[in-house]
Amino acid sequence: MTSTSSILSEPLRLPCGAVLPNRLCKAAMTEGLADEHLRATPRHDTLYRRWSEGGAGLLLTGNVQVDRRVLERPANVTIDMSDAITHDAEARSRLARWAKAGTVGGNHLWMQINHAGRQSPRYVTMQPLAPSPQQLGMLGNFGKPRALTEEEILDLIQRFARVATVARETGFTGVQIHAAHGYLLSSFLSPVTNRRIDAWGGALENRARMLIETLRATRGAVGADFPISIKLNSDDFRKGGFSNDECLQVVQWLNAEPVDLLEISGGSYEQPALVGHLGDASTAAPQRESTRKREAYFLDYAERIRAVAKMPLMVTGGFRLRETMEAAVSENACDMIGLGRPLCTHTDVAGALLRGETRELPAFERGLVLADKGMFSPTSRFALFRQLNAFGEIGWYYLNLFRLADSRGPDLQRGALSALVGYLLTEYRAAARMHRARRARA
Ligand SMILES: Cc1cc2nc3c(=O)[nH]c(=O)nc-3n(C[C@H](O)[C@H](O)[C@H](O)COP(=O)(O)O)c2cc1C
Repeated sequence: MTSTSSILSEPLRLPCGAVLPNRLCKAAMTEGLADEHLRATPRHDTLYRRWSEGGAGLLLTGNVQVDRRVLERPANVTIDMSDAITHDAEARSRLARWAKAGTVGGNHLWMQINHAGRQSPRYVTMQPLAPSPQQLGMLGNFGKPRALTEEEILDLIQRFARVATVARETGFTGVQIHAAHGYLLSSFLSPVTNRRIDAWGGALENRARMLIETLRATRGAVGADFPISIKLNSDDFRKGGFSNDECLQVVQWLNAEPVDLLEISGGSYEQPALVGHLGDASTAAPQRESTRKREAYFLDYAERIRAVAKMPLMVTGGFRLRETMEAAVSENACDMIGLGRPLCTHTDVAGALLRGETRELPAFERGLVLADKGMFSPTSRFALFRQLNAFGEIGWYYLNLFRLADSRGPDLQRGALSALVGYLLTEYRAAARMHRARRARA
Protein backbone atom coordinates (compact mmCIF):
# COMPACT_ATOMS: atom_id res chain seq x y z
CA MET A 1 0.00 0.00 0.00
CA THR A 2 1.26 3.46 -0.72
CA SER A 3 0.70 6.69 1.14
CA THR A 4 1.09 10.07 -0.52
CA SER A 5 0.47 12.49 2.35
CA SER A 6 3.99 12.82 3.60
CA ILE A 7 5.28 15.88 5.41
CA LEU A 8 8.27 15.51 3.09
CA SER A 9 6.06 16.71 0.20
CA GLU A 10 5.41 20.08 1.80
CA PRO A 11 7.05 23.10 0.19
CA LEU A 12 9.49 25.23 2.18
CA ARG A 13 9.64 29.02 1.88
CA LEU A 14 13.13 30.39 2.44
CA PRO A 15 13.99 33.76 4.03
CA CYS A 16 14.92 35.20 0.60
CA GLY A 17 11.42 34.40 -0.68
CA ALA A 18 12.28 31.37 -2.86
CA VAL A 19 10.21 28.24 -2.33
CA LEU A 20 11.61 24.70 -2.38
CA PRO A 21 8.93 22.32 -3.70
CA ASN A 22 9.58 19.59 -1.12
CA ARG A 23 11.82 18.60 1.80
CA LEU A 24 14.27 16.30 0.01
CA CYS A 25 17.64 17.42 -1.26
CA LYS A 26 20.23 15.62 -3.30
CA ALA A 27 23.33 16.49 -1.25
CA ALA A 28 26.48 17.81 -2.92
CA MET A 29 28.55 15.03 -4.47
CA THR A 30 31.72 15.77 -6.39
CA GLU A 31 31.26 14.54 -9.96
CA GLY A 32 34.79 14.51 -11.43
CA LEU A 33 33.21 15.08 -14.86
CA ALA A 34 34.86 18.33 -15.98
CA ASP A 35 36.97 18.48 -19.15
CA GLU A 36 40.72 19.16 -19.20
CA HIS A 37 40.02 22.91 -18.94
CA LEU A 38 37.87 22.28 -15.84
CA ARG A 39 34.62 23.19 -17.60
CA ALA A 40 31.23 21.50 -17.34
CA THR A 41 30.51 18.80 -19.95
CA PRO A 42 27.44 17.09 -21.44
CA ARG A 43 27.93 14.35 -18.84
CA HIS A 44 26.92 16.88 -16.17
CA ASP A 45 23.77 17.59 -18.18
CA THR A 46 22.85 13.91 -18.40
CA LEU A 47 23.48 13.24 -14.71
CA TYR A 48 21.60 16.28 -13.45
CA ARG A 49 18.67 15.79 -15.84
CA ARG A 50 18.24 12.32 -14.35
CA TRP A 51 18.39 13.69 -10.82
CA SER A 52 16.07 16.55 -11.67
CA GLU A 53 13.52 14.10 -13.02
CA GLY A 54 14.05 12.06 -9.84
CA GLY A 55 11.88 14.26 -7.64
CA ALA A 56 14.09 15.98 -5.02
CA GLY A 57 13.02 19.59 -4.48
CA LEU A 58 16.64 20.74 -4.25
CA LEU A 59 19.75 19.51 -6.04
CA LEU A 60 23.15 20.68 -4.85
CA THR A 61 26.00 20.39 -7.32
CA GLY A 62 29.27 18.78 -6.35
CA ASN A 63 31.82 21.28 -5.13
CA VAL A 64 32.75 23.83 -7.80
CA GLN A 65 36.21 25.29 -7.21
CA VAL A 66 37.21 28.95 -7.09
CA ASP A 67 40.94 28.34 -7.59
CA ARG A 68 42.27 26.11 -10.38
CA ARG A 69 45.60 25.66 -8.55
CA VAL A 70 44.07 23.88 -5.57
CA LEU A 71 41.30 21.46 -6.53
CA GLU A 72 39.53 18.84 -4.49
CA ARG A 73 40.16 16.46 -7.45
CA PRO A 74 41.40 16.85 -11.03
CA ALA A 75 38.09 16.99 -12.90
CA ASN A 76 36.29 19.50 -10.64
CA VAL A 77 34.31 22.16 -12.44
CA THR A 78 36.21 25.36 -11.70
CA ILE A 79 35.38 29.02 -12.15
CA ASP A 80 38.66 30.80 -11.57
CA MET A 81 38.56 34.54 -12.04
CA SER A 82 42.27 34.66 -12.86
CA ASP A 83 41.88 32.13 -15.68
CA ALA A 84 39.51 33.26 -18.44
CA ILE A 85 38.99 29.84 -20.03
CA THR A 86 37.09 28.69 -16.94
CA HIS A 87 34.49 31.46 -17.26
CA ASP A 88 34.59 32.70 -20.86
CA ALA A 89 31.53 32.57 -23.13
CA GLU A 90 32.02 28.87 -23.91
CA ALA A 91 32.46 27.94 -20.24
CA ARG A 92 29.36 29.94 -19.34
CA SER A 93 27.22 28.36 -22.01
CA ARG A 94 28.28 24.96 -20.70
CA LEU A 95 27.21 26.04 -17.20
CA ALA A 96 23.90 27.29 -18.60
CA ARG A 97 23.24 23.92 -20.29
CA TRP A 98 24.03 22.15 -17.02
CA ALA A 99 21.67 24.46 -15.08
CA LYS A 100 18.89 23.97 -17.63
CA ALA A 101 19.18 20.19 -17.56
CA GLY A 102 19.31 20.18 -13.76
CA THR A 103 16.05 22.08 -13.38
CA VAL A 104 13.81 20.30 -15.91
CA GLY A 105 11.79 18.80 -13.05
CA GLY A 106 10.88 22.18 -11.55
CA ASN A 107 13.31 21.75 -8.66
CA HIS A 108 15.95 24.15 -7.39
CA LEU A 109 19.58 23.62 -8.41
CA TRP A 110 22.21 25.30 -6.25
CA MET A 111 25.90 25.44 -7.02
CA GLN A 112 28.13 24.39 -4.14
CA ILE A 113 31.19 26.68 -4.10
CA ASN A 114 34.41 25.53 -2.49
CA HIS A 115 38.14 25.97 -2.09
CA ALA A 116 39.85 22.68 -1.28
CA GLY A 117 42.46 24.22 1.05
CA ARG A 118 44.92 21.66 2.40
CA GLN A 119 42.78 18.72 1.15
CA SER A 120 44.04 18.98 -2.42
CA PRO A 121 45.93 15.81 -3.46
CA ARG A 122 49.51 15.79 -4.72
CA TYR A 123 48.44 14.79 -8.22
CA VAL A 124 46.66 18.16 -8.39
CA THR A 125 49.21 20.27 -6.54
CA MET A 126 52.39 19.69 -4.55
CA GLN A 127 51.63 22.80 -2.52
CA PRO A 128 48.06 23.36 -1.38
CA LEU A 129 47.01 26.66 0.22
CA ALA A 130 45.67 26.81 3.76
CA PRO A 131 45.38 29.06 6.80
CA SER A 132 48.62 27.56 8.20
CA PRO A 133 51.20 25.03 6.96
CA GLN A 134 49.56 22.06 8.73
CA GLN A 135 49.95 19.06 6.44
CA LEU A 136 47.33 16.36 6.09
CA GLY A 137 48.98 12.99 6.77
CA MET A 138 47.00 10.50 4.69
CA LEU A 139 48.95 7.87 2.76
CA GLY A 140 51.44 10.62 1.75
CA ASN A 141 48.84 11.86 -0.70
CA PHE A 142 48.78 15.52 0.37
CA GLY A 143 51.58 18.09 0.14
CA LYS A 144 52.55 20.51 2.89
CA PRO A 145 50.40 23.61 2.43
CA ARG A 146 51.63 27.17 2.24
CA ALA A 147 49.93 29.67 4.56
CA LEU A 148 47.81 32.21 2.71
CA THR A 149 48.76 35.86 2.92
CA GLU A 150 46.08 38.32 3.98
CA GLU A 151 45.93 39.64 0.42
CA GLU A 152 45.25 36.13 -0.85
CA ILE A 153 42.53 35.62 1.76
CA LEU A 154 40.79 38.80 0.62
CA ASP A 155 41.12 37.69 -3.00
CA LEU A 156 39.60 34.28 -2.26
CA ILE A 157 36.63 35.88 -0.51
CA GLN A 158 35.93 37.90 -3.64
CA ARG A 159 36.29 34.77 -5.77
CA PHE A 160 33.48 33.04 -3.87
CA ALA A 161 31.28 36.08 -4.47
CA ARG A 162 32.09 36.28 -8.16
CA VAL A 163 31.52 32.58 -8.72
CA ALA A 164 28.11 33.00 -7.07
CA THR A 165 27.37 35.78 -9.57
CA VAL A 166 28.33 33.50 -12.45
CA ALA A 167 26.06 30.82 -10.98
CA ARG A 168 23.15 33.24 -10.91
CA GLU A 169 23.83 34.54 -14.41
CA THR A 170 24.01 31.05 -15.90
CA GLY A 171 20.72 29.78 -14.44
CA PHE A 172 21.56 28.11 -11.14
CA THR A 173 18.84 29.02 -8.68
CA GLY A 174 21.03 29.40 -5.59
CA VAL A 175 24.45 28.72 -4.13
CA GLN A 176 25.92 26.89 -1.20
CA ILE A 177 29.16 27.99 0.47
CA HIS A 178 31.06 24.88 1.57
CA ALA A 179 32.37 25.45 5.09
CA ALA A 180 32.44 21.79 6.17
CA HIS A 181 34.58 18.65 5.83
CA GLY A 182 38.04 20.18 6.36
CA TYR A 183 38.25 22.24 3.14
CA LEU A 184 39.50 25.81 3.25
CA LEU A 185 36.68 27.59 5.11
CA SER A 186 36.28 24.67 7.49
CA SER A 187 40.04 24.58 8.11
CA PHE A 188 39.93 28.28 9.05
CA LEU A 189 37.37 27.38 11.74
CA SER A 190 39.54 24.70 13.34
CA PRO A 191 42.25 25.59 15.87
CA VAL A 192 44.18 22.49 14.73
CA THR A 193 44.57 23.66 11.13
CA ASN A 194 44.37 27.41 11.75
CA ARG A 195 47.39 28.51 13.81
CA ARG A 196 47.38 32.09 12.58
CA ILE A 197 48.07 34.90 14.98
CA ASP A 198 46.57 37.67 12.85
CA ALA A 199 42.93 38.76 12.48
CA TRP A 200 42.09 35.42 10.76
CA GLY A 201 43.20 33.07 13.55
CA GLY A 202 43.18 32.60 17.33
CA ALA A 203 39.84 33.38 18.96
CA LEU A 204 36.77 31.77 17.37
CA GLU A 205 35.59 35.17 16.20
CA ASN A 206 38.78 35.44 14.13
CA ARG A 207 38.64 31.85 12.86
CA ALA A 208 35.05 32.42 11.71
CA ARG A 209 35.94 35.69 9.98
CA MET A 210 36.64 34.13 6.60
CA LEU A 211 33.29 32.34 6.54
CA ILE A 212 31.33 35.41 7.63
CA GLU A 213 33.15 37.72 5.21
CA THR A 214 32.67 35.23 2.37
CA LEU A 215 28.96 35.07 3.13
CA ARG A 216 28.65 38.88 3.23
CA ALA A 217 30.57 39.33 -0.02
CA THR A 218 28.45 36.64 -1.69
CA ARG A 219 25.19 38.19 -0.51
CA GLY A 220 26.38 41.58 -1.71
CA ALA A 221 27.12 40.09 -5.13
CA VAL A 222 23.93 38.08 -5.73
CA GLY A 223 21.34 40.31 -4.06
CA ALA A 224 18.72 39.72 -1.39
CA ASP A 225 16.39 37.42 -3.35
CA PHE A 226 18.86 34.65 -4.29
CA PRO A 227 19.18 31.62 -1.99
CA ILE A 228 22.48 31.23 -0.15
CA SER A 229 23.15 28.15 1.93
CA ILE A 230 26.07 27.31 4.21
CA LYS A 231 27.30 23.74 4.81
CA LEU A 232 28.84 23.58 8.27
CA ASN A 233 30.29 20.87 10.46
CA SER A 234 28.32 20.21 13.62
CA ASP A 235 31.69 19.03 14.96
CA ASP A 236 35.03 18.08 13.37
CA PHE A 237 35.21 14.97 15.59
CA ARG A 238 38.92 15.79 15.79
CA LYS A 239 40.80 16.23 19.06
CA GLY A 240 41.24 19.97 19.54
CA GLY A 241 39.26 20.72 16.35
CA PHE A 242 36.13 22.80 15.69
CA SER A 243 33.73 21.55 18.36
CA ASN A 244 29.97 21.39 18.68
CA ASP A 245 30.01 24.22 21.22
CA GLU A 246 31.97 26.35 18.77
CA CYS A 247 29.52 25.42 16.03
CA LEU A 248 26.64 26.67 18.20
CA GLN A 249 28.41 30.01 18.59
CA VAL A 250 29.06 30.31 14.83
CA VAL A 251 25.39 29.55 14.15
CA GLN A 252 24.41 32.42 16.44
CA TRP A 253 26.63 34.74 14.45
CA LEU A 254 25.12 33.40 11.23
CA ASN A 255 21.66 34.26 12.64
CA ALA A 256 22.55 37.91 12.13
CA GLU A 257 23.32 37.29 8.42
CA PRO A 258 20.89 36.47 5.62
CA VAL A 259 21.33 32.67 5.36
CA ASP A 260 18.56 30.74 3.60
CA LEU A 261 19.50 27.21 4.58
CA LEU A 262 22.08 25.87 7.00
CA GLU A 263 23.19 22.33 6.18
CA ILE A 264 24.66 20.32 9.03
CA SER A 265 27.30 17.65 8.44
CA GLY A 266 30.52 16.71 10.27
CA GLY A 267 34.10 15.45 10.00
CA SER A 268 36.87 15.78 7.44
CA TYR A 269 39.25 13.53 5.46
CA GLU A 270 40.96 12.63 8.74
CA GLN A 271 37.71 11.85 10.52
CA PRO A 272 35.23 10.88 7.78
CA ALA A 273 32.16 11.10 10.01
CA LEU A 274 30.29 12.63 7.06
CA VAL A 275 29.92 9.16 5.59
CA GLY A 276 29.66 7.41 8.95
CA HIS A 277 33.26 6.18 9.17
CA LEU A 278 35.66 6.48 12.05
CA GLY A 279 39.03 7.98 11.18
CA ASP A 280 42.55 7.95 12.60
CA ALA A 281 42.13 6.77 16.20
CA SER A 282 45.04 8.87 17.50
CA THR A 283 43.38 12.17 16.55
CA ALA A 284 39.69 11.25 16.95
CA ALA A 285 37.59 13.18 19.45
CA PRO A 286 35.03 11.11 21.34
CA GLN A 287 31.67 10.83 19.58
CA ARG A 288 28.39 10.40 21.36
CA GLU A 289 27.40 6.76 21.36
CA SER A 290 23.95 7.70 20.10
CA THR A 291 25.49 9.46 17.08
CA ARG A 292 27.34 6.36 16.00
CA LYS A 293 24.38 4.09 16.49
CA ARG A 294 21.79 6.32 14.99
CA GLU A 295 20.69 5.97 11.39
CA ALA A 296 21.04 9.71 10.72
CA TYR A 297 24.49 10.56 12.05
CA PHE A 298 24.05 14.22 13.00
CA LEU A 299 20.51 14.39 14.33
CA ASP A 300 21.55 14.81 17.99
CA TYR A 301 23.78 17.65 16.97
CA ALA A 302 21.09 19.15 14.77
CA GLU A 303 18.70 19.22 17.71
CA ARG A 304 21.16 21.35 19.70
CA ILE A 305 21.76 23.57 16.67
CA ARG A 306 18.04 23.90 16.06
CA ALA A 307 17.65 25.37 19.55
CA VAL A 308 19.80 28.36 18.56
CA ALA A 309 19.41 28.59 14.75
CA LYS A 310 16.97 31.10 13.29
CA MET A 311 17.38 30.01 9.65
CA PRO A 312 15.95 26.84 8.02
CA LEU A 313 18.02 23.73 8.74
CA MET A 314 18.99 20.70 6.68
CA VAL A 315 20.67 17.60 8.05
CA THR A 316 22.64 15.26 5.78
CA GLY A 317 24.23 11.91 6.57
CA GLY A 318 22.84 8.43 7.01
CA PHE A 319 19.11 8.94 6.35
CA ARG A 320 17.72 5.77 4.79
CA LEU A 321 14.20 5.22 6.19
CA ARG A 322 11.23 7.38 5.26
CA GLU A 323 9.94 7.23 8.87
CA THR A 324 13.23 8.65 10.15
CA MET A 325 13.10 11.49 7.62
CA GLU A 326 9.44 12.25 8.35
CA ALA A 327 10.06 12.17 12.09
CA ALA A 328 13.04 14.52 11.78
CA VAL A 329 10.87 17.08 9.96
CA SER A 330 7.65 16.59 11.92
CA GLU A 331 9.48 16.68 15.28
CA ASN A 332 11.08 19.90 14.09
CA ALA A 333 14.68 18.68 14.27
CA CYS A 334 15.20 20.07 10.76
CA ASP A 335 13.34 21.39 7.70
CA MET A 336 15.15 19.56 4.90
CA ILE A 337 16.68 16.10 4.55
CA GLY A 338 19.93 15.75 2.58
CA LEU A 339 20.51 12.46 0.73
CA GLY A 340 23.82 11.45 -0.82
CA ARG A 341 24.95 7.90 -1.56
CA PRO A 342 21.56 6.35 -2.38
CA LEU A 343 21.36 8.76 -5.34
CA CYS A 344 24.67 7.55 -6.74
CA THR A 345 22.98 4.33 -7.77
CA HIS A 346 19.26 5.17 -7.88
CA THR A 347 18.41 8.59 -9.32
CA ASP A 348 14.67 8.39 -8.69
CA VAL A 349 14.46 7.48 -5.00
CA ALA A 350 13.40 10.96 -3.83
CA GLY A 351 10.25 10.82 -5.98
CA ALA A 352 9.58 7.25 -4.89
CA LEU A 353 9.77 8.31 -1.23
CA LEU A 354 7.47 11.27 -1.82
CA ARG A 355 4.92 9.14 -3.67
CA GLY A 356 5.02 6.60 -0.87
CA GLU A 357 6.34 3.90 -3.21
CA THR A 358 9.37 3.15 -1.10
CA ARG A 359 10.16 3.36 2.58
CA GLU A 360 13.81 2.35 2.62
CA LEU A 361 16.64 3.62 0.45
CA PRO A 362 19.29 1.29 -0.97
CA ALA A 363 22.38 1.18 1.26
CA PHE A 364 25.57 -0.48 0.07
CA GLU A 365 28.03 1.18 2.40
CA ARG A 366 27.98 -1.50 5.09
CA GLY A 367 28.69 -4.47 2.84
CA LEU A 368 31.07 -2.74 0.49
CA VAL A 369 34.33 -2.66 2.23
CA LEU A 370 35.09 -6.20 3.30
CA ALA A 371 33.65 -5.18 6.64
CA ASP A 372 33.36 -8.80 7.68
CA LYS A 373 37.17 -9.06 7.69
CA GLY A 374 37.99 -7.42 11.02
CA MET A 375 41.24 -5.87 9.87
CA PHE A 376 39.56 -3.92 7.09
CA SER A 377 36.57 -2.74 9.06
CA PRO A 378 35.98 0.95 9.76
CA THR A 379 36.72 0.36 13.43
CA SER A 380 39.98 -1.49 12.82
CA ARG A 381 43.20 -0.25 14.42
CA PHE A 382 45.00 -0.70 11.11
CA ALA A 383 44.83 2.89 9.90
CA LEU A 384 46.26 2.18 6.44
CA PHE A 385 43.68 -0.48 5.64
CA ARG A 386 40.95 1.64 7.10
CA GLN A 387 41.90 4.54 4.85
CA LEU A 388 42.15 2.31 1.77
CA ASN A 389 38.78 0.94 2.74
CA ALA A 390 37.24 4.39 2.85
CA PHE A 391 38.85 5.27 -0.52
CA GLY A 392 37.52 2.03 -2.01
CA GLU A 393 34.05 2.86 -0.83
CA ILE A 394 34.13 6.40 -2.13
CA GLY A 395 35.62 5.14 -5.42
CA TRP A 396 32.70 2.77 -5.77
CA TYR A 397 30.30 5.71 -5.61
CA TYR A 398 32.40 7.83 -7.96
CA LEU A 399 32.45 5.08 -10.58
CA ASN A 400 28.70 4.66 -10.33
CA LEU A 401 28.23 8.41 -10.82
CA PHE A 402 30.25 8.10 -14.05
CA ARG A 403 27.92 5.36 -15.22
CA LEU A 404 24.83 7.47 -14.50
CA ALA A 405 26.43 10.38 -16.38
CA ASP A 406 26.93 8.04 -19.35
CA SER A 407 23.21 7.14 -19.36
CA ARG A 408 23.90 3.70 -17.92
CA GLY A 409 22.58 1.92 -14.86
CA PRO A 410 24.65 1.36 -11.71
CA ASP A 411 27.09 -1.54 -11.29
CA LEU A 412 26.07 -2.96 -7.94
CA GLN A 413 28.30 -6.02 -8.21
CA ARG A 414 31.66 -4.29 -8.41
CA GLY A 415 33.98 -5.00 -5.45
CA ALA A 416 35.66 -2.37 -3.30
CA LEU A 417 39.20 -3.27 -4.38
CA SER A 418 38.38 -3.08 -8.07
CA ALA A 419 36.57 0.22 -7.40
CA LEU A 420 39.64 1.57 -5.63
CA VAL A 421 41.91 0.71 -8.57
CA GLY A 422 39.40 1.97 -11.16
CA TYR A 423 38.91 5.22 -9.28
CA LEU A 424 42.66 5.89 -8.87
CA LEU A 425 43.25 5.23 -12.57
CA THR A 426 40.54 7.69 -13.60
CA GLU A 427 41.86 10.31 -11.20
CA TYR A 428 45.44 9.99 -12.46
CA ARG A 429 44.30 10.10 -16.09
CA ALA A 430 42.18 13.20 -15.43
CA ALA A 431 45.12 14.82 -13.63
CA ALA A 432 47.45 14.06 -16.55
CA ARG A 433 44.95 15.56 -19.04
CA MET A 434 44.57 18.67 -16.92
CA HIS A 435 48.33 19.18 -16.49
CA ARG A 436 48.91 18.61 -20.24
CA ALA A 437 46.24 21.20 -21.13
CA ARG A 438 47.78 23.66 -18.69
CA ARG A 439 51.28 23.20 -20.12
CA ALA A 440 49.95 23.60 -23.67
CA ARG A 441 48.41 26.94 -22.72
CA ALA A 442 51.43 28.21 -20.79
C1 LIG B 1 30.68 10.27 -3.83
C2 LIG B 1 30.53 11.37 -2.81
C3 LIG B 1 30.92 12.67 -3.11
C4 LIG B 1 30.75 13.70 -2.19
N1 LIG B 1 31.10 14.98 -2.53
C5 LIG B 1 30.76 16.01 -1.71
C6 LIG B 1 30.92 17.36 -2.13
O1 LIG B 1 31.36 17.67 -3.25
N2 LIG B 1 30.55 18.33 -1.25
C7 LIG B 1 30.02 18.05 -0.02
O2 LIG B 1 29.68 18.97 0.74
N3 LIG B 1 29.85 16.78 0.40
C8 LIG B 1 30.18 15.77 -0.43
N4 LIG B 1 29.92 14.49 -0.04
C9 LIG B 1 29.21 14.25 1.23
C10 LIG B 1 27.70 14.19 0.98
O3 LIG B 1 27.18 15.46 0.60
C11 LIG B 1 26.96 13.73 2.24
O4 LIG B 1 27.23 14.68 3.28
C12 LIG B 1 27.36 12.33 2.68
O5 LIG B 1 27.39 11.43 1.55
C13 LIG B 1 26.43 11.77 3.74
O6 LIG B 1 25.14 11.61 3.24
P1 LIG B 1 24.56 10.12 2.87
O7 LIG B 1 24.70 9.28 4.10
O8 LIG B 1 23.13 10.34 2.46
O9 LIG B 1 25.41 9.60 1.76
C14 LIG B 1 30.16 13.43 -0.92
C15 LIG B 1 29.79 12.11 -0.62
C16 LIG B 1 29.96 11.11 -1.55
C17 LIG B 1 29.50 9.71 -1.19
